[in-house]
Amino acid sequence: MRMEDKKKGRRNMENLDLHFIHTYNRSVTFVRGEDVYLIDDQGKRYLDMGAGIAVSALGYSNKRFKDGLKRQVDDLIHVSNLYFNQPAIKASKYLSEASGMDRVFFTNSGTEAIEGALKLARKYAYLKNPNSGGEIIAMNHSFHGRSMGALSVTGTEHYRTPFEPLIGGVSFAEYNDLESVERLITPDTCGIILETVQGEGGIYPASEEFIKGVRSLCDSHHIAMILDEIQCGMGRTGTYFAYQHYGILPDIITSAKALGCGVPVGAFAAVEKFAKAMVPGDHGTTYGGNPLACQAVCQVFEAFEEEDILSHVKEMGNYLREKLSGLQRRFPEIITEVRGKGLLLGMEMACPNADIASKAMERGLVLLTAGGNVVRMAPPLVIQPEHVDQAVSILEEILAQQP
Ligand SMILES: Cc1ncc(COP(=O)(O)O)c(C=O)c1O
Repeated sequence: MRMEDKKKGRRNMENLDLHFIHTYNRSVTFVRGEDVYLIDDQGKRYLDMGAGIAVSALGYSNKRFKDGLKRQVDDLIHVSNLYFNQPAIKASKYLSEASGMDRVFFTNSGTEAIEGALKLARKYAYLKNPNSGGEIIAMNHSFHGRSMGALSVTGTEHYRTPFEPLIGGVSFAEYNDLESVERLITPDTCGIILETVQGEGGIYPASEEFIKGVRSLCDSHHIAMILDEIQCGMGRTGTYFAYQHYGILPDIITSAKALGCGVPVGAFAAVEKFAKAMVPGDHGTTYGGNPLACQAVCQVFEAFEEEDILSHVKEMGNYLREKLSGLQRRFPEIITEVRGKGLLLGMEMACPNADIASKAMERGLVLLTAGGNVVRMAPPLVIQPEHVDQAVSILEEILAQQP
């Protein structure tokens, strides 16, 4: 590279944020992915224990996934929802079969999947009683997205307050506290929404008693049980969907993130009783479920089956958890708890989590943070023991140097 080009590159680096609305504090530009590593524009390699926030489940070098997308780009990228497309037909079957839901609606993101799920719960209640208040019960410390409906059911006040008025009729219960949910149910309640494992809120899995209790409350009040599986679903906990650990079936689910492994796609899906509440004209999207996005979904499901990803997640989840528990035993004054499910694990820290994450970045390790004071790990589901060992040894080095 010529000297003036280098200088120009440096100047551009300094101005990277110039034309963005400043909603993120970013410092690194990634240019390539290889296996479970990311490479930045300076050529530095990072072990990725975040997977683009629980998205890139297959890592960055899955040939079948990439080849499938390339073929689809050549065949057909978009047709609109005025027509069927073959990848969407196949993807809807795969998602229905994997989730136990009967019908699927594809969206472009997680937050849009939540919007659809909320609309479906309200439409079901409206058909039973057009004067229904359409009230929703959500959980404190939940995270469901940034669009108005999803934000309205997100249980963190400082995310919501600047954007009020949001959609009405939402009340918040305590996660894993069934009585607090029951107290909020009124004749106008149409649904209860929760994450099966709270992600952004700090990696809290639902207790069995809680999930089963919410299921039976929804049954007895004839309201929708909506499980947000956007972060904890699609194999992350060792089953396709996290509720499959509890032996219950929700009425409506949302999915996104790993559903397309990086190609933007989400979905809400429902059992027939609820799904049939929506009819033509009730909901729609221009891009949602287009051939390219749905080809990604098909490739993901086929890779999961061929590569037996779910068994691998169980094995690697146990391995990572064991290693993190080992770290906790070594640094009990810094790591106060290790919790989570499968390959969605969090360490509650006694020192600032962001400080650990930024020291890890310096050493070539990508970590996530989560609410409370949690260092979160949601790596590609294809990680191997040597990657876990590498991540843990970098963490060990950082923790040993903590004041
Ligand atoms: C549980 C959960 N729900 C919804 C969302 C929103 O998804 P998206 O960012 O694709 O809109 C997220 C994103 O982090 C999430 O973790």
